[in-house]
Amino acid sequence: MFSHKLIEKNIGLLIVLTLLVISVGGLVQILPIYFQKSTTEPVPGLKPYSALELTGRDIYIREGCYNCHSQMIRPFRAETERYGHYSVAGEFVYDRPFQWGSKRTGPDLQRVGGRYSDEWHYVHMMNPRDVVPESNMPAYPWLAEAAADDGTIQKKMRVLKDWAGHPYTDDEIAQAPEMLKGKTEMDALIAYLQSLGIHAPKAN
Ligand code: HEC
Repeated sequence: MFSHKLIEKNIGLLIVLTLLVISVGGLVQILPIYFQKSTTEPVPGLKPYSALELTGRDIYIREGCYNCHSQMIRPFRAETERYGHYSVAGEFVYDRPFQWGSKRTGPDLQRVGGRYSDEWHYVHMMNPRDVVPESNMPAYPWLAEAAADDGTIQKKMRVLKDWAGHPYTDDEIAQAPEMLKGKTEMDALIAYLQSLGIHAPKAN
């Protein structure tokens, strides 16, 4: 007789059956996500980061901005009223790796694009206390002196295109160094910040 008692008394069988149940349950939950359009397709209007924005994004990562800033708005009223529409999967398809973060010493930045002028960002990055007196964000003045082009941009774009399927055209890759010419790391970081969330779903 194949009864519950038998399973409970036979530890080997219990382990095998438990693993089986977890695997099936896991597959049922996880597999469909790979095929759902809403999780794999970009939101309307979303494009891969331009050469300048991509450079800025790498500076954001290098400087550890994610230690204090999230880019993930949760579907709670307190968050959507402050930041805008909650985050959806289709906004992150060109974010490798994503910058969701897990700590908010400062505000979420996912919808910061267009909220301030480039000049505001410049002054804020040079010394946050010049615009927000109570700020405890560090200053990043060296970004205004370093050149944005470190000679790696075309390689980065090619890797994203060939390995991750980001739809860069050969022209965009060819013109990348031109786009970075004369720009500083500060310009690149600001371009990145201004690109954040501009294709967000409209708030209800
Ligand atoms: C030690 C924590 C900390 C780090 C690291 C940090 N920030 Fe901040 N950031 C803050 C705080 C706190 C605020 C809110 C006060 C202010 O506006 O300065 C803020 C505000 C901001 C704002 C304005 C957001 C808004 O909606 O008003 C931007 C943009 C920003 N930070 C960008 C950055 C970038 C880019 C980096 C990395 C180069 C960075 N921050 C690193 C703490 C931090």
